[in-house]
Amino acid sequence: MACRVFPLPSRSAISMTPLVLLLLLSALCEQPVSGYKPIIIVHGLFDSPAEFKMLLHFINQTHPGTNVTVVDLFDRSESLQPLWKQVQGFSEAVYPIMQNAANGVHLLCYSQGGLICRGLLETMPDHNVDTFISLSSPQMGQYGDTDYLSRLFPQYVKSNLYRFCYKHMGQTFSICNYWNDPHHHDLYLNRSEYLALLNSESNCPNATNWKKNFLRIRRMVLIGGPDDGVITPWQSSQFGFYNQNETVMDMHEQEVYLQDAFGLKTLDSRRAITRYTVPGVPHTNWHSNQTVYETCIEKWLT
Ligand SMILES: *[C@@H]1O[C@H](CO)[C@@H](O)[C@H](O)[C@H]1NC(C)=O
Ligand SMILES: *[C@@H]1O[C@H](CO)[C@@H](O)[C@H](O)[C@H]1NC(C)=O
Ligand SMILES: *[C@@H]1O[C@H](CO)[C@@H](O)[C@H](O)[C@H]1NC(C)=O
Ligand SMILES: *[C@@H]1O[C@H](CO)[C@@H](O)[C@H](O)[C@H]1NC(C)=O
Ligand SMILES: *[C@@H]1O[C@H](CO)[C@@H](O)[C@H](O)[C@H]1NC(C)=O
Ligand SMILES: *[C@@H]1O[C@H](CO)[C@@H](O)[C@H](O)[C@H]1NC(C)=O
Repeated sequence: MACRVFPLPSRSAISMTPLVLLLLLSALCEQPVSGYKPIIIVHGLFDSPAEFKMLLHFINQTHPGTNVTVVDLFDRSESLQPLWKQVQGFSEAVYPIMQNAANGVHLLCYSQGGLICRGLLETMPDHNVDTFISLSSPQMGQYGDTDYLSRLFPQYVKSNLYRFCYKHMGQTFSICNYWNDPHHHDLYLNRSEYLALLNSESNCPNATNWKKNFLRIRRMVLIGGPDDGVITPWQSSQFGFYNQNETVMDMHEQEVYLQDAFGLKTLDSRRAITRYTVPGVPHTNWHSNQTVYETCIEKWLT
């Protein structure tokens, strides 16, 4: 397919929105209240900021005074909007927060939000994300039957969903943007308008820039586990995925890793990737589980 060139708004277009003006003005009047970097949180499919109450409480307890923003965009059913559109919206919202953060920000992204965040990291040339925390996100895509899918597309199961997802119409749903059917890999490469581009698996003129942008992060933290129940295979949360016979291959065996297609291998060679495998956590509990917070998240929020 022809690579879609994603037009970022010019900086002047960004600064003209009233919301941004308001954010900038209020930031000028604020004194920094703590030494911790601001945290930006991006929610997942069918979620909204309300889901993150516990996480905000944990952060307030261990890192009081941290400026945490849970971006209130594309909530609930709006989260089915195509991911490039969401990336555009989120980048406009996070840009002023980054501009106000001289020492950089941390990006904590849950589930589908982790793919939106990769879109931000690859397409924002001057982002200042220090640590990117990916909380049970299908980074290599999804291939599994879930309650979400059977509710949305009752006439499909995982083995035939490609018929819907790998058409332009299908790609107008976020879920199809990262549907990765290992039995129809050619179609995925040809038709995926999001993940195949982010991964640089299909040709994209922006690949070199996107890799450079992505590699501005200092660290990537990948959290996931075998009892997740939604992300399939769960190893996708750590850049593992099925091969053509549905055997899960580790991140280090993925073609995109070996080719260093979008910077994963470079990041790994910098020892900048931390992977956590946590059993006993169902998908909807990742952000509310105190043990997960204390074990995998807390120490990175400096
Ligand atoms: C953070 O904790 C303090 C002290 O427990 C409390 O007074 C404050 O309301 C909390 N702030 C938030 C945003 O939860
Ligand atoms: C938190 O950051 C946002 C965006 O930079 C800013 O508008 C807001 O005033 C900050 N809040 C505090 C309490 O510093
Ligand atoms: C993609 O590349 C085109 C042409 O080089 C450039 O104008 C555009 O800004 C790039 N977009 C992104 C999101 O990097
Ligand atoms: C990719 O899609 C184009 C048209 O969209 C088609 O001509 C081509 O045969 C497809 N290639 C594969 C490998 O499916
Ligand atoms: C599936 O793929 C793996 C890795 O390529 C291979 O070791 C295994 O033998 C294959 N299994 C079958 C049943 O083909
Ligand atoms: C919380 O996480 C721990 C592992 O860190 C797990 O054993 C426990 O079952 C989880 N609790 C819930 C309610 O998800």
